[in-house]
Amino acid sequence: MPDTAVGPWGVPFLGYAPFLIGGCIHEKLDRLKEKYGDIFCLNLAGKDVVIMSEWRLIRDAFNRHELNDRADLLMFRQFSDGNHGILGSCGNQWRENRRFTISVLRDFGLSKAPKLNAMIQQEVLKLCDLLRRNEDPQDFQHPLNLAILNLIWKLTAGKFIRKQFEHGDLQLDGLLDLVSKVKDDAVSLGLLQILPGLLHVWPLKEVEERKKFVTREPPKDYIEAYFQKMDEFKQKGESNPYFTELQLWVTVAELFIAGSETTSSAVRWFVLFLLRHPNMQEKIQSEVDRVVGKERIPSLDDRNQYWKTPNEFIPERFLDEDGNVMSNLPSLVPFGTGRRQCIGESLAKMELFLFVATFMQKFTFCVPQGYPIPSAEADGSFVITSPKPYKFLIRERLHT
Ligand code: HEM
Repeated sequence: MPDTAVGPWGVPFLGYAPFLIGGCIHEKLDRLKEKYGDIFCLNLAGKDVVIMSEWRLIRDAFNRHELNDRADLLMFRQFSDGNHGILGSCGNQWRENRRFTISVLRDFGLSKAPKLNAMIQQEVLKLCDLLRRNEDPQDFQHPLNLAILNLIWKLTAGKFIRKQFEHGDLQLDGLLDLVSKVKDDAVSLGLLQILPGLLHVWPLKEVEERKKFVTREPPKDYIEAYFQKMDEFKQKGESNPYFTELQLWVTVAELFIAGSETTSSAVRWFVLFLLRHPNMQEKIQSEVDRVVGKERIPSLDDRNQYWKTPNEFIPERFLDEDGNVMSNLPSLVPFGTGRRQCIGESLAKMELFLFVATFMQKFTFCVPQGYPIPSAEADGSFVITSPKPYKFLIRERLHT
């Protein structure tokens, strides 16, 4: 850290960390930005951290290969079980596995789009049925997480899934809790207790079992694709230290963690803003009615035809003068930017589109009588900005 670095002082040992815990972290950092400028430094428990809050600086920094690696934090080391997986790993290990995983996800996303479409639709419809059965004020965090988790599981473990996770499945409830704790506890090093359980109890069992059924046919899921890759090296008499079973377990666990709470939080934010802006809800519903109609279920093919205004809740920022979204806005980086950019972006966008379009076709979300309009304040988690819990009532729009 240069001597000239500016930023707030903290307390001995912990630095500025105690002042960031609790409440909305981005608002706190925003206030520091007012005082110290677009780039400043903090010390967090002995680690110097650079905070950037201007998109040009961020894009520039995140594209530099010398900044590819994760910080040397206990959290990342624990997360990557040393240096495995993608999210917390560094160097060739990260590069090789990131590249491989992107290509597998791309194959599943592009060449198998109709299958993926049907898979997501099935989960959305199951969720709609569940919501429909509940006439009381409800909070859909748990069933929504379940739907998203099931989709990742299908992509990861495909047809060998022995049992679809259903409600009341204790093993699943435990997993859902773990996944959301990862997000909540990351700042307090909760990962230390959580990750070994997550890694060993669950994906490992599936990976062990799947090892026995590897084929030479086009892979049906991520685990199979990974074993085939390992087999390729074996056939050539080579051993590749970057493609191992441990690596596979860690990556599978990471896909769960990185791909579930993120996507379900985005859907929960969407419903929260509908509750806060009923007029927007009507507008979206009539757009869905116009393009999809009332009979068929929204499909990914509908994407190009409408919803040029997904960010209506803060419209001016993201729309051009014709009211179209400027999707290539350089300052809009919900999936990150540069070399660590999200590898699940396409999948997440497919999921978000189908969840949101189907909800709008079928339901009107309302604030139950006697309940407050949900606050747009985030829950204060360190890693993923989720809404605070809220409840809603649904009114059915159609009888399909
Ligand atoms: C709305 C949903 C999602 C959002 C907002 C989101 C956001 C992000 C962001 C901002 C990053 C970059 C973090 C950084 O700069 O270090 C990231 C990385 C990552 N995301 Fe996502 N993500 C979402 C869904 C998914 C899904 C569905 C998957 C998996 C299928 C996934 C897997 C990953 C992985 C593995 C990384 C680490 C990449 C690396 O370190 O090279 N994400 N995500």
